[in-house]
Amino acid sequence: QCTTEEFRPRYHFSPAEHWINDPNGLIYYDGVYHMFYQYHPNDTIWGPMHWGHAISTNLITWEELDIALAPDDLGDIFSGSSVVDTTNTTGFKTDNGNDPIVAIYTSASEEGFLTQVQSLAYSVDKAATFQKYVNNPVLRDENSPDFRDPNVFYYGGKWIMSLAVGNKIEFYGSPDLKTWSKLSEFGADPQQGNHDGVWECPDLIPLIADVNGDGTKLDELWVLLVSINPGGPNKGSATQYFVGNFDGTTFTSFTWSNTQWMDWGPDNYAGVTFSNEPQGRALVVSWMSNWNYANATPTSAWRGQMTIPRTLDLVVVNRTADQYRLVSTPAEELQELRNPLHYLEYNAEINVLPQSIINLTEQAAFSTPLMELEITLNISKNPEPSFAICAHNTIGEEVCFGYSNAEYYLDRSKTTNTALNTHYTGALVSKAVREATEEVISIRMFLDVSSIEVFADGGLTTMTAIHFSSQPLDKIYINNWSKAGSSAILKVKNFKVYGLHC
Ligand code: FRU
Repeated sequence: QCTTEEFRPRYHFSPAEHWINDPNGLIYYDGVYHMFYQYHPNDTIWGPMHWGHAISTNLITWEELDIALAPDDLGDIFSGSSVVDTTNTTGFKTDNGNDPIVAIYTSASEEGFLTQVQSLAYSVDKAATFQKYVNNPVLRDENSPDFRDPNVFYYGGKWIMSLAVGNKIEFYGSPDLKTWSKLSEFGADPQQGNHDGVWECPDLIPLIADVNGDGTKLDELWVLLVSINPGGPNKGSATQYFVGNFDGTTFTSFTWSNTQWMDWGPDNYAGVTFSNEPQGRALVVSWMSNWNYANATPTSAWRGQMTIPRTLDLVVVNRTADQYRLVSTPAEELQELRNPLHYLEYNAEINVLPQSIINLTEQAAFSTPLMELEITLNISKNPEPSFAICAHNTIGEEVCFGYSNAEYYLDRSKTTNTALNTHYTGALVSKAVREATEEVISIRMFLDVSSIEVFADGGLTTMTAIHFSSQPLDKIYINNWSKAGSSAILKVKNFKVYGLHC
């Protein structure tokens, strides 16, 4: 049964009540995906953080469980990760045979961000309940006030932790998750990525790059995700990434001329990947909001939602210095959301003339705010067209993804609630460089009641935004807004849209 609650996402995760931010401790164990998250169980604004807990077997429907971790003498429970300790390095295993699931998180004391130390909690009942480790904290550094968001994985015979420290990342190693020694650091050089804010929520991920594009040379490279706030491409929070090598001690990024962003929209933050993912995918979930206005969004009982799960891969683009790029693809499981009875497809080519709008869903009485759509376009070069694909309603509200002057953009200015605060009002339109240069543009979009997630050029450019309209945006049109008389060409080659189950 679909809810009718205003702004409530129908297929994205949101808590039944109260505040959430970052996804934490994402892990798969024994048939179940666990998502923990920053949670304030008494209010709809940020406050004393707990780890909330939800589980899923299909990455679509999430069941909210009891709070997993609550504040203690060491402070509130900030972001972190979790791992399965299959070889019992911690000695936490009991005779019930379950592998210990160990959460590694930041304890932040009453003074909030002033004192941050790293702590452990473990579960021997498949993440149903957690116990705090008696000798917490396991890592502290009096000299670093911003010392948080431990992300741990096993590599080269030891546990490796990435930790956000001010605006760099420190790496630590441990045999047993309990004693840690510093291995190296990355990012102190102001040339390395963006430093206009605090670095948060790191995740170091191995990925295979098809170097020649034909399978003849497969290199294992490492991608370091680093969320930064503020400093994002459209102000406020965003996630940058670095591609490089990791030798078990040191991460070295390749030469970079530009900061790379995992997502160019305003609302994709603190994304990290699942540990122990059964297919070995780098499966990422992010918080779909922005610290610039997260506390001001107009929802009532709850506040905050997550992106759809996405798979990360590396591709090689033809550039001399910095040739690797991250691509994001909606998790395959999401195909289950498609309602086969609510589907529309055109294969005939449609020429969209300058200064004209074509309704893509009107004729077939296709109408739902829950959509997955795929559109393939052909554009001319010199001159290029300017166009937008918009989800809209009959009272003129709309959210558009468009292209103009070699840039993509996402525009939520024509929604009703645009004055949440000055930051939100200032970030109604966000822009992204188009990395691809082909005359064919393929776009995939996921639309929910209060969000849009766009994957352009096979996920080379992604843009994510939340928005708040008074009526559902349940129709799609394409607008060629190139100047009248322009010789630029815009053709729809193929258009498919699925209504999605709630
Ligand atoms: C990122 C963040 C983390 C911190 C948590 C607190 O959004 O600021 O660095 O652990 O949120 O809720």
